[in-house]
Amino acid sequence: MKGVLFLFVFAMDSATFSPLPRHVGLLEMLLFACRLVATPDRHFLYAIGSSWVEVVAINLHRISFISIARMFRLANLILLYAGATATQSSVSLALEKRVMQHRQAEEGTGATTQHKMAYFGTIQVGRPPQNFTVVFDTGSGNLIVPGRDCTSDACASHRRFDRQKSKQIQSVNCDGSKVGYGLEQDEITITFGTGKITGQCFQDDICIGSACSKGNFISSTEESYTPFASFSFDGVLGLALDSMAQSNEFSVMNLLQQSGVLRKPIFSVFLSDSEQEKSEITFGDMKQEHMASELYWVPVSGNAGYWEVEIEDIYFDKKPQNLCKGCRVAVDTGTSELAGPSSVVGKLEELLSLGDCSNVDSLPKLGFAVRGPDGNPKILSLSPREYTSEIGMGTCNLSLMNLDVPPPKGPLFVFGIPFLQKYYTVYDHEKSRVGFAVAKHKDQVPETLLEVEATAAPGPEARLSSSFLARK
Ligand SMILES: *[C@@H]1O[C@H](CO)[C@@H](O)[C@H](O)[C@H]1NC(C)=O
Ligand SMILES: *[C@@H]1O[C@H](CO)[C@@H](O)[C@H](O)[C@H]1NC(C)=O
Repeated sequence: MKGVLFLFVFAMDSATFSPLPRHVGLLEMLLFACRLVATPDRHFLYAIGSSWVEVVAINLHRISFISIARMFRLANLILLYAGATATQSSVSLALEKRVMQHRQAEEGTGATTQHKMAYFGTIQVGRPPQNFTVVFDTGSGNLIVPGRDCTSDACASHRRFDRQKSKQIQSVNCDGSKVGYGLEQDEITITFGTGKITGQCFQDDICIGSACSKGNFISSTEESYTPFASFSFDGVLGLALDSMAQSNEFSVMNLLQQSGVLRKPIFSVFLSDSEQEKSEITFGDMKQEHMASELYWVPVSGNAGYWEVEIEDIYFDKKPQNLCKGCRVAVDTGTSELAGPSSVVGKLEELLSLGDCSNVDSLPKLGFAVRGPDGNPKILSLSPREYTSEIGMGTCNLSLMNLDVPPPKGPLFVFGIPFLQKYYTVYDHEKSRVGFAVAKHKDQVPETLLEVEATAAPGPEARLSSSFLARK
């Protein structure tokens, strides 16, 4: 869009370079009229500035200082181009951490309290903007906020989107299509683990800080009490790959990329456990200050819509265990857990003989080797304190939950917050790849990103094409 504008302006300006001095004034009038019309809101001030330069240039023409006028125009063009690229920026949003107590009825044992952690930030929906706190969830695809019409307890205790207050809102069907004349818009029900949400779909402004785009989202009409009433945030902003969204117009990352507001088509996540540090998500860039190692890119494997990468093998320190070949691991900012296939988790329990946790410091690091396009694979690892937990009565358990996703979608590990506190992750929307770097935290000596030592190259694995069970 900006490129086209630039070329157009350039063509017009070159036209004025031709030896037709009588038409010069006219062309220039046309030129800045076009520029004003074609200029989006936020370029308006700039356009006024550049028009002023044009006016000066025209006046200079009149008194025949053509070479000076050309100089002005050239400067103007450079300014225009700089202006257009400078508006592509990155936006960082501070994330707030909250531990939620989540009571769940369980067979036999009565209610148990689970502690779930979440990080969330504030976005705006509608014009004028309405604020919502959302979890930036790489494990789901759509933006969902509570709606004004939703009278469920879970909605009543949160901010609700009031569509009457938004000036340019449009109803859409939940596959992204227009609502037919005289027809009612459809509804959608999305299930999330233990709960579900029913809602209607709309198109309106969606803003993450200064990065705004028009896009589709879901405004709920009904939310189950569990788990949504216990959430300390209002909604969810899905950042999975586009295929997990209802349609491309529902994928916020796709919208931001298409509208050209981001410097790079990526977002990056820094999560800290410490009160001394600010957790943040950055759209449009990655931050060197959060990295204690080089960033290692790994291509997304499969077409499930999850940010998942293939695991070459599981390691205990530097020793490959020949376990879980062809498994994948998905990085999921929307879960507070680490989970893996029960057969592998069981085998790890056996091999590690955890006992009562008294041996925790003698246990090996649990590593997952991933391979980028060049060089040796790197090992993403968890230290014994990160992969074990003492569950009382001197029993030590792996902090890996059982999760069985049948092939071809599985076997799959899902790494949530504990992993993401340790690794800074970058998500490349355009190239479908995930970057991993050891996160740099205050007052902590970072571990290094281990490299697999060169041995016999592993044979080609059976390729798994997949479409992961979206959480919908
Ligand atoms: C909305 O959020 C922004 C940024 O967090 C804040 O500055 C503003 O005061 C909020 N507005 C309302 C009405 O809460
Ligand atoms: C701990 O591990 C044992 C054996 O695998 C399992 O039966 C038990 O449910 C686990 N406890 C918790 C709290 O995860």
